[in-house]
Order: sequence, then C-alpha cells, then structure tokens
Amino acid sequence: MDRFKKISPREIAENPFSLIGDDWGLVTAGGRDSFNTMTVSWGGVGILWGKPVVYAFIRPQRYTYGFLEREERFSLSFYPEEYRKALALCGSKSGRDVDKVAATGLIPAFTEDNVPYFEQAKLVLICKKLYAQDLNEQSVIDSEAVLPNYKGDDWHRMYVGEITSVLRV
Ligand SMILES: Cc1cc2nc3c(=O)[nH]c(=O)nc-3n(C[C@H](O)[C@H](O)[C@H](O)COP(=O)(O)O)c2cc1C
Repeated sequence: MDRFKKISPREIAENPFSLIGDDWGLVTAGGRDSFNTMTVSWGGVGILWGKPVVYAFIRPQRYTYGFLEREERFSLSFYPEEYRKALALCGSKSGRDVDKVAATGLIPAFTEDNVPYFEQAKLVLICKKLYAQDLNEQSVIDSEAVLPNYKGDDWHRMYVGEITSVLRV
C-alpha cells in the first residue's frame, strides 16, 4: 500500500463523468483466496444518508456479482490510460473462463481487511455495502431511455457502497 496515500472522499479532484464514463473503473470483490474484477463505466459517486457513496450497477450474470453478494466490502479503482487494454479485457472476458490477473498483469493488492484492488491503480475507493436493489421494469419512467438496455431481461442490481477510505497515488 506504500505507493498510495489516504485522502478523504472530498479531496477527490477528478471529474466523475470522465472518470467513470470515459476512463472506466474496476469493481473488485472477494478475499485473498478468491476474488474477481470487472470493468464498469456506469455508476456514480455522491452523498446519501449523510455519507460519501458510490453507486455501482452490476448485471446478475457477471461472475463478479457472486463475490459482491458474498462480501461486505468491495473496491472501485481507476487506472492510468496505459491500462486501457487491461480494462477492456476485464470488461469483455469473464473470470469464470480467464485468469484476469495473468492475462492483464494487474497485481492484486489488499487492504488491511482484505479488500482487493490492484497495485497499478491511481485512485482506489474502498466501499462498504449499505444497500442493494434490483432495478425492475415496474419502476421505469422513461421506457425509451431504459428498456433498450434490458432486452435480455438482465436488470442491473444497484449497489450503494459507503466510501470508507480513498487511496491515491
Ligand atoms: C467499458 C465497459 C463498461 C462496463 N460497465 C459495466 C457495468 O457498469 N455493469 C455491468 O454489469 N457490466 C459492465 N460491463 C461488462 C462487464 O465488465 C463484463 O461483462 C465482464 O466481462 C464481466 O466479468 P466477470 O464475468 O468476470 O464478472 C462493462 C464492460 C465494459 C467494456
């Protein structure tokens, strides 16, 4: 963890629209024995219930989903542009079929309480699950905007995670 220093969520200077939407991030969950990571470009950061939070939206067929369900904590981490290929791989292959660590060269790192992320990150948000809920058709207000994303009936599960620590290079 020595590359990193701890900052508070309010010190994050990045624009969240470009950080999440354009640069992409990795949602990583599990423990030292087994964990999985996947690329995300939908989600957000903000304040809820008086706490700094991330919002992540994960489809149930992702291998990472099982790890997120099992664990109390997860990380959302961001990488320099040179890792675009690694993130593309983590967003197109499943950990069920591919060893993503071997395939990308990402080096696993763990917080003191064993939350996984990767050494090459430039920014790591360590999160504790506060709330999860499956999106559903009954709640849709703008069908034109939303329904085309769910032709496979694979509604995302929304996770609200409290940002409990932030590591940055
Ligand atoms: C740029 C990009 C963004 C993605 N964003 C999400 C997302 O927000 N939620 C999601 O469920 N899948 C998203 N995916 C798809 C998963 O990353 C992809 O299905 C991945 O292979 C799942 O890996 P896993 O089965 O090992 O968990 C995204 C993929 C890419 C390339």
